[in-house]
Amino acid sequence: MKILVTGGAGFIGSHVVDAYVAAGHEVAVIDNLATGNEHNLNRDAQMHRLDLRDPAEVASVVSSFKPDVVNHHAAQAEVPKSVADPAFDAQVNLIGGINLLKASVDNGVRKLIFISTGGALYGEPDIVPCDEDHPVRPLSPYGTSKFCFEQYLGTFKRTFGLDFTVLRYANIYGPRQDFQSEEGRVIAIFASRMIAGKPVTIDGDGEQSRDMLYVGDVATANLAALDRGSNGTYHVSSGFDVTINELFRKLAILTGYKQQPSHGPRRRGDVYRIALDNTRAQRELGWQPAVSLEEGLSSTVDYFRQRVAAPSA
Ligand SMILES: NC(=O)c1ccc[n+]([C@@H]2O[C@H](COP(=O)([O-])OP(=O)(O)OC[C@H]3O[C@@H](n4cnc5c(N)ncnc54)[C@H](O)[C@@H]3O)[C@@H](O)[C@H]2O)c1
Repeated sequence: MKILVTGGAGFIGSHVVDAYVAAGHEVAVIDNLATGNEHNLNRDAQMHRLDLRDPAEVASVVSSFKPDVVNHHAAQAEVPKSVADPAFDAQVNLIGGINLLKASVDNGVRKLIFISTGGALYGEPDIVPCDEDHPVRPLSPYGTSKFCFEQYLGTFKRTFGLDFTVLRYANIYGPRQDFQSEEGRVIAIFASRMIAGKPVTIDGDGEQSRDMLYVGDVATANLAALDRGSNGTYHVSSGFDVTINELFRKLAILTGYKQQPSHGPRRRGDVYRIALDNTRAQRELGWQPAVSLEEGLSSTVDYFRQRVAAPSA
């Protein structure tokens, strides 16, 4: 099938492109390389370097490629940036996304797979792990723009008949993750600093916890969503939480890191404990995670070892 992946040069989107190409699909990518990297791009995918906020350019790619499915990963994906500049967040995550929706209905796209967030939607959850029906009360403009776009999908389904699947991700980690971004993710930062022998700082007491999922498992969820889960919303998650202190200990063993961490202030607005129940995805998408935390961390450390040894690769 023909699949258009937005954000296909980014961390997660590039793994999804690889999985689609490996499964024999024809793939085109839209990415403006705001945070993505050309090195991530699969050579067998057609690249269109453009900004989703430009409706004419988006329409031109969709009408010439004529995808069966659009997989929408591109986003302003950083929580602190959304707090600092909520209007920019909404321009990319809402207006950019709406341009893509409009071009999709105008060109007979069958389905749009939208990548939302589980970690930034529920605030401090009432129960852990929480399921997809948990009340939504985002703490950041990023969480709000993601949830708002989910509502547009319902409208476009009811009014124009465009099928959708929403995948609400947990905290994703693995090769190609940017450890230098403003909100570089915890595993990428710890692993790269430990390998380089640099000091590591844990925010707060480190007993806060997250649901961590390996990026290879995210790719298989996106394969499952091509044919299943029409008009449904699913957690793509491990289903359990791990504390930041546990992650530190596991990564220290894998990297041979002997230094003690220092502790900084707890980050304002951070959720303390969260995990996302993935029972619905198991039942309706036929998907479940296959990579254990130990295996995923080990592959990630291997990747960052190579990056630290050859930073430009
Ligand atoms: N990383 C996580 O833990 C996580 C968790 C929940 C949800 N998500 C979601 O997954 C998706 C991918 O996130 P990621 O971590 O790979 O981040 P990323 O920054 O690596 O990927 C985002 C991609 O979108 C592109 N992009 C940004 N603005 C664009 C625009 N205006 N036009 C075209 N392309 C644009 C970037 O260049 C980049 O390649 C995002 O939608 C994000 O919100 C990520």
